Amino acid sequence: MAVINDDMRSIVASCGLGYAATVTPEGAPNLSPKGSLAVWDDDHLYFADIASPQTIENLRHNPGIEVNAVDIVKRRGYRFRGTGEVVSDGPVFDKAAQVLHETHGPQYPCNHAVLIHVEEVRPLLSPAYMFNETPVAEDDLAAVWRGKLGLAGDGGLARRAAAYEKVLSAILNFRSVEEVRDVFSREVTQEAAEGFADALNQVRDRGQPDEYAMADAIEHVIILRSAENDVTPEQLERLFNDPDHHEMPSEEITSRVVAVWERTAG
Ligand SMILES: Cc1cc2nc3c(=O)[nH]c(=O)nc-3n(C[C@H](O)[C@H](O)[C@H](O)COP(=O)(O)O)c2cc1C
Repeated sequence: MAVINDDMRSIVASCGLGYAATVTPEGAPNLSPKGSLAVWDDDHLYFADIASPQTIENLRHNPGIEVNAVDIVKRRGYRFRGTGEVVSDGPVFDKAAQVLHETHGPQYPCNHAVLIHVEEVRPLLSPAYMFNETPVAEDDLAAVWRGKLGLAGDGGLARRAAAYEKVLSAILNFRSVEEVRDVFSREVTQEAAEGFADALNQVRDRGQPDEYAMADAIEHVIILRSAENDVTPEQLERLFNDPDHHEMPSEEITSRVVAVWERTAG
């Protein structure tokens, strides 16, 4: 029975790195990354043993293996469990060696290939998909993480603005992201524009680039508006830092927001 579907194929291709867990002869866990992880067919994965002596030894004693493949931008993936067969010739070995040498060069040794007979597949989901009141769409989360990981193109600024809207909807208890966007465009932007000259003077005093000024002006308004809604610094900090809220701004921005909060509300 086929266990590997198209979505699993796409995640294995996009994850860039799978983590293979085996058990040592002494019974200890052994986890190591395999960039060469790929799908063989509807029931099998494989990877090249380039520098994985312990994994190979483990499989010879106990073929049990679990491989995790997670797309770190989409924040989801799969756990593949089954048995690992160590092969030194035949079509799987030939393919592993061919791909390795084509993609990395002939200097890389392909000592063996490991063919994983997949018996069970379970999905892996970031808590961001599970614990937010408003369901998080994969595209939104991916956009935020592309920005965080420095993979965003020109749309990065717009995506960061979208992330802020989500944060604000939680902080300010607005009913929807749309309402936040509305308030943001009508009021916050106006106030931020009014505070822009002061913010510009401040960033210049601190020796920072001029482009920090608009972000500072907007953050300042956010903080003042948060204060109007009885949000404590602790709540604010928790919201910005909560690892489950992946749409939150970066730690650097968080610490700046909290610092400004403390100066203005503190
Ligand atoms: C990003 C990355 C990709 C790697 N890809 C592979 C791989 O495809 N095959 C391999 O044998 N080793 C790979 N390695 C190296 C092994 O993970 C590493 O040598 C590890 O210590 C092997 O441990 P083990 O013997 O317990 O498997 C990779 C390491 C990193 C950091």
